Amino acid sequence: MTEASKVLVTGGAGFIGSNLVDRLVREGYRVGILDNFSTGEISNINKADIEEGRIQLHRGDITDYQLVRAVVKDYEAIYHEAALPSVARSIEDPLLVNEVNVTGTLNLLKAAVDLKVKKVVYASSSSVYGESVKLPKVETMSSLPVSPYGASKLAAENYCRVFAKVYGLPTVCLRYFNVYGPRQKYGHYSGVIPIFITRLRNDLPPVIFGDGEQVRDFTYVQDVVEANVLALRRDVNPGEVFNIASGGTTSIKQLAELLAKLVGKPHIAPEFVEERPGDIRASHADISKAGDALGYRPRFVPAQGLPTVIEWFSRDKAPVANEPNPA
Ligand code: UD1
Repeated sequence: MTEASKVLVTGGAGFIGSNLVDRLVREGYRVGILDNFSTGEISNINKADIEEGRIQLHRGDITDYQLVRAVVKDYEAIYHEAALPSVARSIEDPLLVNEVNVTGTLNLLKAAVDLKVKKVVYASSSSVYGESVKLPKVETMSSLPVSPYGASKLAAENYCRVFAKVYGLPTVCLRYFNVYGPRQKYGHYSGVIPIFITRLRNDLPPVIFGDGEQVRDFTYVQDVVEANVLALRRDVNPGEVFNIASGGTTSIKQLAELLAKLVGKPHIAPEFVEERPGDIRASHADISKAGDALGYRPRFVPAQGLPTVIEWFSRDKAPVANEPNPA
């Protein structure tokens, strides 16, 4: 059991980070947020939690080591959620993605060692596996990423493992599989779910890259939050890596159909275009390791999680779909 009352969430204004922050506040932690607001949103953070001191907001960049060190000194544990996600962006700008995802993580780990942080939980990604012959993907399989994004997440994960071994820093890496949920952004680099929902809401057909038979293990953000809470509390071997997913698969074609139904426009059929570079065919997780070691039990399949996401996209200021497809 790791005892910590003050925890820092990097990327705490972002999609996954802010959902985690809400839960940590409810659990009674004093929560710090370190975010540069490049993709995070102040509206993702509960104003009253800031005003009443439950959340401490630190504006800044994880690529700035001095700043990272100055912030980390006030915390006992760190959730490292800050990153530039998106396979597509990493293909366009691998240097920037490396700077944020790899150097940013290294800065945090170095500060954590020097300031004797009790645990660092790192948000890794299913993209580290790349295209594997065997499914579902198990943590013992080799990692051969096929995008700069995947390479950056693997490099950062390796730093977590090495820091555990060399400096004794308790790190845990959670490999998230295609996370979705409220607050996920719609835009040029967003995941397939916000894109499809926004297009359907605007009476545009979802655009599928390839034949639509590619599958993903879509994971609801509240399951990811739960895994993070468990990863902080449970004692696991430093440097361990865990798949965090729903443990099932949905093809992109099925997803388009399901969303069209849930949005109330079942007559809108998807369009098919060329496959996307850097894409993998299948992503499906074996989650038994997280089940055994952390007690992780996912509670949502897409049909259960998606209605809440659609509701969230129906709120004020819902995005308007761009033409052509933003991805
Ligand atoms: C990848 C990573 C994931 C990471 C995410 C960040 C893998 C296995 N997963 O997810 O860990 O968090 O990037 O962005 O590498 N698609 C369409 N039409 C669209 C948009 C997407 O058909 O308009 C398809 C894509 O071709 C892909 C699937 O939907 O096959 C999912 O795409 P996306 O949501 O971008 O996530 P991944 O690339 O799977």
